[in-house]
Amino acid sequence: MAAGSLHLAVTFLSVLTGVLSFPLGQETKCSDTCGYESCHATKPNMLNVHLVPHTHDDVGWLKTVDQYYYGDRNDIQHAGVQYILDSVVDQLLKNPDRRFIYVETAFFYRWWKQQSSSTQQTVKQLVNEGRLEFVNGGWCMSDEATTHYSAVIDQMTMGLRFLNETFGPCGRPRVAWHIDPFGHAREHASMFAQMGYDGFFFGRLDYQDRSQRMMKKEQELLWRASDSLTPPMADLFTGILPNGYNPPEGFCWDQSCDDPPIRDDPDLEDYNVDDVVRRFLTIANSQALVYKTNHIIMTMGSDFQYENANLWYKNLDKLIHYVNAQQSNGSKVNVLYSTPSCYLQELHRANLTWPLKTDDFFPYADNAHDFWTGYFTSRPALKRYERISNSNLQTCNQLEVLAGPVSRERPFGKGDSQTMKKAMAVAQHHDAVSGTEKQHVANDYARRLANGWQHCQVLVSNSLAALSSSSAERIYCDNLNISVCPLTESSKKFSVNVYNPLARPVTWPVRLPVNGTAYTVSDAKGKSVDCQVVPVSRATREVRRNRGFAVNELVFQVQAPPLGYSTYSVSLVQDGPPPASAHHRTPTVIQNKFLRVTFDPDTGLLSSLSNVETKQSIKLTQNFYWYNASDGNNTESIQPSGAYIFRPNSSTPFIISRTAKTETVQTSVVQEVRQWFSPWVSQVVRLHADSRALELEWTVGPLPIDDDLGKEVITRLDTSIKTSEIFYTDSNGREMLERKKDFRPTWHLKQSEPIAGNYYPINSRAYIKDDVDQLTVVTDRSQGGGSIHNGSLEIMLHRRLLYDDVRGVAEPLNETSSIFPEGLVVRGRLLLSLDRPPVAADTHRPLAQEVVLQPLLTFTNGDLSPNTRLEFSGLQAALPSAVHLLTLTQWDKDSVLLRLEHQFQSWESKVNSKPVTVNLQKLFSTLQVLGVSELNLSANQWKDEMIRFDWTPQTGKKPLLKTFEDPSVWEVTLRPMEIRTFLLRVSLR
Ligand SMILES: *[C@@H]1O[C@H](CO)[C@@H](O)[C@H](O)[C@H]1NC(C)=O
Ligand SMILES: *[C@@H]1O[C@H](CO)[C@@H](O)[C@H](O)[C@H]1NC(C)=O
Ligand SMILES: [Zn+2]
Repeated sequence: MAAGSLHLAVTFLSVLTGVLSFPLGQETKCSDTCGYESCHATKPNMLNVHLVPHTHDDVGWLKTVDQYYYGDRNDIQHAGVQYILDSVVDQLLKNPDRRFIYVETAFFYRWWKQQSSSTQQTVKQLVNEGRLEFVNGGWCMSDEATTHYSAVIDQMTMGLRFLNETFGPCGRPRVAWHIDPFGHAREHASMFAQMGYDGFFFGRLDYQDRSQRMMKKEQELLWRASDSLTPPMADLFTGILPNGYNPPEGFCWDQSCDDPPIRDDPDLEDYNVDDVVRRFLTIANSQALVYKTNHIIMTMGSDFQYENANLWYKNLDKLIHYVNAQQSNGSKVNVLYSTPSCYLQELHRANLTWPLKTDDFFPYADNAHDFWTGYFTSRPALKRYERISNSNLQTCNQLEVLAGPVSRERPFGKGDSQTMKKAMAVAQHHDAVSGTEKQHVANDYARRLANGWQHCQVLVSNSLAALSSSSAERIYCDNLNISVCPLTESSKKFSVNVYNPLARPVTWPVRLPVNGTAYTVSDAKGKSVDCQVVPVSRATREVRRNRGFAVNELVFQVQAPPLGYSTYSVSLVQDGPPPASAHHRTPTVIQNKFLRVTFDPDTGLLSSLSNVETKQSIKLTQNFYWYNASDGNNTESIQPSGAYIFRPNSSTPFIISRTAKTETVQTSVVQEVRQWFSPWVSQVVRLHADSRALELEWTVGPLPIDDDLGKEVITRLDTSIKTSEIFYTDSNGREMLERKKDFRPTWHLKQSEPIAGNYYPINSRAYIKDDVDQLTVVTDRSQGGGSIHNGSLEIMLHRRLLYDDVRGVAEPLNETSSIFPEGLVVRGRLLLSLDRPPVAADTHRPLAQEVVLQPLLTFTNGDLSPNTRLEFSGLQAALPSAVHLLTLTQWDKDSVLLRLEHQFQSWESKVNSKPVTVNLQKLFSTLQVLGVSELNLSANQWKDEMIRFDWTPQTGKKPLLKTFEDPSVWEVTLRPMEIRTFLLRVSLR
């Protein structure tokens, strides 16, 4: 059918013009194969130029994801993905040689749903013949600096699942494709390797790194992306594209471009074929000089191109024809329609060795004063909302599994996890959680997450009703961080259900806004729990504005079982003791059984931190500063600081205040020193009775801009630790990487921005250490940070900027809202722990995990009915401390997807960095496990069918594929940093 219409079109064309005779250049083969077998033949004795027609479709940026799909608001940016897919399919049918790749499943899925079954059939055929090929294939092309691995794996799984279910094996992408993200994380490479990709291509890297790689022909390399996984598990062949992701200069034939079309009628006076061919050969030959093989790739497309695909394809057909026609005159250049996987296959066939890389591609600079390190922190409120949404989604997923189908139905009506999954998936896009979108688009992402959470709340309520046998209404308080919860503010008696999504028991501090002065709290066994009432701080009253009216906060510790909940009941005591009061003096010390913290009584600042158990102690001062943002008005460069780029106008930050006014509250449950630095910066230094970490709860904003300068606020920890200008940051929340000031491990850096050029993404933690002390800071969202001075660690908390940084977003990052018209106020937490370096991971791994997957509190008013089940665990027993239950989610009617993760690196811990074995059959309390199959990390391929290209590093040997046999199907062993993915066939017990 497709071929018939093709020949018609061709005949028509050649009659009309009398110039072209089809097929153009290369052999036409109507194969019925996809993947590597469907690649066009190449010529071994020539330079083969792989033309890759593609479009880069942001899942939200200047417009929302829906506006981009429909082509709405073309006044903002001309872009309509539905028309792109319509047009490309038409054009592919016109010539079987043509190829197209598609990347973002969030868009493709929308389009697919709207097609007739005959169009769907046609598209399936194009996919089966390798003419339309999916690459990457996740829901979106995720950001790499500010995403957490858990959400990245989920969004990839969602996109790849749709492709597998719709197209089968021919829909499985072979290549990962991150052409636009602004720097590249090692953990992303590790994940892609474990998802079965044969190779990875990207467009952006530091300009100095690129030029050195070009000289050494090292733009194609083997990335060894884990220091713990046995090679080649995390080895990923990585290619750097020649021109970002754009076509070579002069060869953009989209309707949005102005390059001359190929005018090939010799009877007309502006015939330009000779010129086009000459220019193309020049570009191809010079590109070949900086790559190793006789194959090169050219990305023929760009942002939202191919809306009128005829323009591109008509000219590409001719380009191929006329360039290859020169072969009869001795030209050694062969051009072909291709895809990234076809190009990759040729690199693999070349059987060369490739330079080995073990660090990452951060930070990214595209010029001397243009470091893309601002977006590590941009939109801190959205970044936190995305992270907490992930926590809530995992809880929602788990509870859907643990209570079964009833959780989607009753007693509170229809609930689902799917809406939240999709909202989280689009939020991973490289202009979403990264903070580099327009304000209205950021609002759209937040609205989607809020809507997803609404759907999940119904599901969670249904599930908890089933598990607890109580259909009392559940109330959610999403604003506890600013002490707002209408129920607890007014109720005399209520209960709190604490659901813990971790596979081990947790102890967690709870803090509820109340108006009474004394309460009793009892646990699920009826035992009374130590609780204290403390006054609401001034900073909290100011940030919550008129959204709540509590004068006090009730504080107590809760314990919740693994993958389960515990219920606490709270009652107001009429004539109880008065609440704790705040004293206006700085204590010299606060202390619990793990930590001792001292303050300087003159300044009110922290002065030291000690670990009571190990008897180690460091000097520690901490304060807040801001960098004035460059407004782009100086001699070195006109680059201003903006949503993407961090460019302070001086390397010396301004101190907000040398001293803090303090207030102290000391009780048996919590001790806190409330520090007031300025009307826009305050902090609570908090030590809970049972915590191994010191909490710094910061509140920053609205950042004043009356001096007409943008501000970038940091907190800086200055310690006595001797760091030799080295600090460590995590990669997407997993493995740690060493960072050295003014240094890059694999290339020679000429440093031109002493602050911005030393900033790195911190997803979940950073630490500084020497031989005896390690100070780890766990963050509650992604932030940027650096270690500019010895013993010092700074973290950027908030930024407000008055100029656009000319990377396309065309808005200054100046966030306001209806509640904060004078500028956004942001609150967050840093958790500090001090340990001996060899055992530090035993503290910071579980600590970070508790921040990423935090307990979910739900409330019921009044008395619970007497047969309510007050405590529940979804597990038969807690998992070993090295094991993290990463995913538990319903897959289809009878099966669930389970991911177990070894959360320690191989060198990190004496106790925990050992292989651990878990029995899958003895895992769950509510589920019987009937069968198990293992999948790749993205769950779109059976593990035993996952065969990847093997690559040989320049140094060292080609790694041999080891297969680790599990002792039995049910007993699975996890080695350091390993994630294993299982599909379990289950039935409810
Ligand atoms: C690849 O190169 C190696 C070492 O040069 C050689 O031993 C091997 O036979 C080659 N493989 C193929 C398929 O050409
Ligand atoms: C891929 O999809 C097919 C068709 O729905 C299904 O039978 C198969 O199990 C899927 N593969 C994986 C690995 O999930
Ligand atoms: Zn993009």
